[in-house]
Amino acid sequence: MAGSFDLIPMSDVLGAEVRGLDITAKLDDSTITALESTWADHEILLFRDLDLSPGEQVTFSAQLGKLSSHTQADYALPNHPEIFIVSSNVDEKGTPIGATPTRMWHSDGQYTATPPAGTFLYGVDIPDEGGDTLFASMIASYEALDIEVKEKIEDLQVLHSRIQSYVKLHPPGTDVRNQLTEEEKSSFPDVIHPLVRRHTYSGKKALYLRGNAGQHIIGLDEEESDELLDTLAVFATQDRFVYRHQWRKGDAILWDNRSVSHMGTPYDITKGRRYMYRTTIQDRALNPA
Ligand code: SIN
Repeated sequence: MAGSFDLIPMSDVLGAEVRGLDITAKLDDSTITALESTWADHEILLFRDLDLSPGEQVTFSAQLGKLSSHTQADYALPNHPEIFIVSSNVDEKGTPIGATPTRMWHSDGQYTATPPAGTFLYGVDIPDEGGDTLFASMIASYEALDIEVKEKIEDLQVLHSRIQSYVKLHPPGTDVRNQLTEEEKSSFPDVIHPLVRRHTYSGKKALYLRGNAGQHIIGLDEEESDELLDTLAVFATQDRFVYRHQWRKGDAILWDNRSVSHMGTPYDITKGRRYMYRTTIQDRALNPA
């Protein structure tokens, strides 16, 4: 029992299922505090058998921090700009019904100056097969690095380019997701973040990596930077640091962007529909009230 809910571990490395908490009710302060510390400890929290309305999802998520509206307004839910629709399915005209998931390891909003603390993803419709999400603990992988590697990377800074990564991840002509508009591009200057970041709640160190698209370690030439980023990414996403979630309809996962990388996996869009509502929670520590 943690606060007013129970926890069932989901793997040896990260993740816990929360049971016995009605997330549609207004949470009291002690429950929110318990949830925040449990979330930082376990990195991803799973809630099952939900039947959430968009309003309930927004209300629950907003108790953990201010919500961000996604920058690609095309995929926002009408009347609920805080909800971003994630789906690879298309309608009868071939138009995407949501934003395609990113098929590369990443943490949400790494390309922004103040990346979000968390993401809450709710499974409205789930296909019978495929569409799993992989989660890797960047705290566990950082802690497992050799001391020499830790010393080498300790003070490195990484430049992240949203514009470069977007084109690599969603290539024009092959990915159905809309390309960034000129206005969206101009709202994304390159940003710099440490390669090893401290968790803003627990203070623990974590690798802050992204699949190698549009990022560069400052002070290294392109080849050296790519090699180091690739080596770290391969190390950090070994099975021993990863939990794979097979979704059920009514599941929701709250993941911690401060310490977890994640990646969506494909499914056959001719055989099933995957339709997810995502809310994105700003980092309290970076946005004091
Ligand atoms: C994402 O890439 O942020 C979404 C992950 C998923 O849909 O599995």
